[in-house]
Amino acid sequence: MSEPAIEVYENEGRSFPPPADFAAGANTSDQSLYEEADADYEAFWARQARELLSWDTDFGETLEWELPHAKWFLGGELNVSYNCLDRHVEAGRGDKVAFHWEGEPGDKVTLTYAQLLTEVKKFANVLKGMGLNKGDRVAIYMPMILELPIAMLACTRIGVAHSVIFGGFSADAIVDRCDDAQARMIITADAGYRKGAPGLLKPTVDAALDGGASTVESVIVVNRCDTEPSMTQGRDHWWHDVMADASDDCPAEPMDSEQLLYLLYTSGTTAKPKGIMHTTGGYLTQVAFTHKYVFDIKPETDVYWCAADIGWVTGHSYIVYGPLANGVTSVMYEGTPDTPSKDRLWQIVANYGVTQLYTAPTAIRMFMKWGEDLPGGHDLSTLRVLGTVGEPINPEAWMWYHEHIGGGERPIVDTWWQTETGGNMITPLPGVTATKPGSACQAIPGVFAEVVDDAGNIVTEGGGYLTIARPWPSMLRGIWGNEERYRETYWSTYEGRYFAGDGAKLDSDGYLWLLGRVDDVMNVSGHRISTAEVESALVDHPAVAEAAVVGANDDVTGQAIVGYVILLGSHEPSQELGNEIREHVGKKLGKIARPKTVIIVPDLPKTRSGKIMRRLLRDVADGRQLGDTTTLADPGVVAEIAAKAAEGGDED
Ligand code: PRX
Repeated sequence: MSEPAIEVYENEGRSFPPPADFAAGANTSDQSLYEEADADYEAFWARQARELLSWDTDFGETLEWELPHAKWFLGGELNVSYNCLDRHVEAGRGDKVAFHWEGEPGDKVTLTYAQLLTEVKKFANVLKGMGLNKGDRVAIYMPMILELPIAMLACTRIGVAHSVIFGGFSADAIVDRCDDAQARMIITADAGYRKGAPGLLKPTVDAALDGGASTVESVIVVNRCDTEPSMTQGRDHWWHDVMADASDDCPAEPMDSEQLLYLLYTSGTTAKPKGIMHTTGGYLTQVAFTHKYVFDIKPETDVYWCAADIGWVTGHSYIVYGPLANGVTSVMYEGTPDTPSKDRLWQIVANYGVTQLYTAPTAIRMFMKWGEDLPGGHDLSTLRVLGTVGEPINPEAWMWYHEHIGGGERPIVDTWWQTETGGNMITPLPGVTATKPGSACQAIPGVFAEVVDDAGNIVTEGGGYLTIARPWPSMLRGIWGNEERYRETYWSTYEGRYFAGDGAKLDSDGYLWLLGRVDDVMNVSGHRISTAEVESALVDHPAVAEAAVVGANDDVTGQAIVGYVILLGSHEPSQELGNEIREHVGKKLGKIARPKTVIIVPDLPKTRSGKIMRRLLRDVADGRQLGDTTTLADPGVVAEIAAKAAEGGDED
């Protein structure tokens, strides 16, 4: 394992207790939930499952734990779309707004719970009509439009597992994911608005289907931008056509608590992404619980907004499943925060009277750069809780968020979790916890986070590796089709413990400080990208002989991808070639994985055992001004690499 990429903020002594008026009205404001969970955590989660969700059949045993396999709420049956929709409508809340949706160009749609339910039932019938059955997998590759949650919920209604593929991914990425999951259908759109213009999706799906994804039988296409994509007769269908006469009679089917709900692919330390498996009862319990208590949700009055993309786990759990299970009104936004103007987010907060905002440190750092006048020009006084997720937040960004968005008083919840954990794991509770800028504070009630040293001994104060000592309801149930990798990645490093892959430090107050990944996974703008994946895309270019990739520090994106490449003998280094290599990665993997910088080097520093010395390459990258371009290794860099390599020592 390598050292975590960032340093802990040693002298952070500031502490912000919950404002008294906030605590007075909060969903929880004392230690009672922690005490209850510590006394009997299975009973605690069983209570949450029964109180927060509606079950068709009550469960018997709460937890069966055969390391590393957990089953929660055994024998229980429930339906996710019923819990997210029908029960609110049945309780007379059908006219409540589920989503205030806003397109990037400014078009708006308001969808009530009753309307959303009708659309979901119709689309579930479309899926059934096209031959999809319980247990099948469907890929979804869509922009942030309402048909995306409709498609997801329709899948859950009939027990089809969705696999949402982020709209920025490439054709190759679609092929890999569809092949691995054996997806029978892709649901997509012609395009989605991105920075003022349609970002095309359907041609990418076509390229994927030309190049593989042979299990896909049909494609359903939403017409979002009128880009007139080519449609393959017999295979491709317009959403509006198949929905036109679909029946809205479609009862929700009770599902076993452990029925596969979805797959979501995430990057690991090898070039092949992992299909993380989430199931029904445990997942919905934890996302509903955390959403309610971490964001202090008051469904009657709140307008909640998670400004993430549903292509990532944050959107699954905190745009779709948590908020709908809790029956709250949400905002959903299609576009980027700088289009048409850099105060777009603040306009939306003010227009809808947003009460909770959930975003990422990389976005906050960008807002800082743009200046406080932009939020300052809008009425943000409705905000009650501010959330952050995806990467460690530096205290400067935390303080800026606190002062300029939170008016110096709103609680900030810095939520640590992962695709694998399904829901929030380590975070303050806004009415309970005194927060410290840069710390995710402590594990939620019912989750047992512990820091261990190299040997697996528990650290009570100081640095080490983050582990989770007991199973939790929304934990991954495995890696699709790869039991060995599941055991190896998460359960083999420390016996009996889930190994998160993050470094962490416990301070003398028992607060956790996350230190970033300790494996070869980069975190760019809160997105996980594997060094191995980018390296394999780099060497896929015909001019590249060998490549090493590191995440360098970046003021805005947290880390930036830097690729060092050695060219094959017949190729001359040039700016053009370097750029071509960068673009090649963008095409292979998607733009988010395109290196910020490609450095062409004559050699790579290696240990005596032949391992690339990444730490050294990171140091070199951190010491340089990185441009958005190719950098040829100047003699200084080469000398530096050579000199440092000569200093020797095997990197662990
Ligand atoms: O390194 C941690 C970082 O993001 C990783 C998980 O990435 P992903 O599965 O894509 O999920 C991101 C959204 C849940 C973690 O291993 N991470 C996430 N949240 C935080 C964080 N690091 C520090 N503080 C956080 N709040």
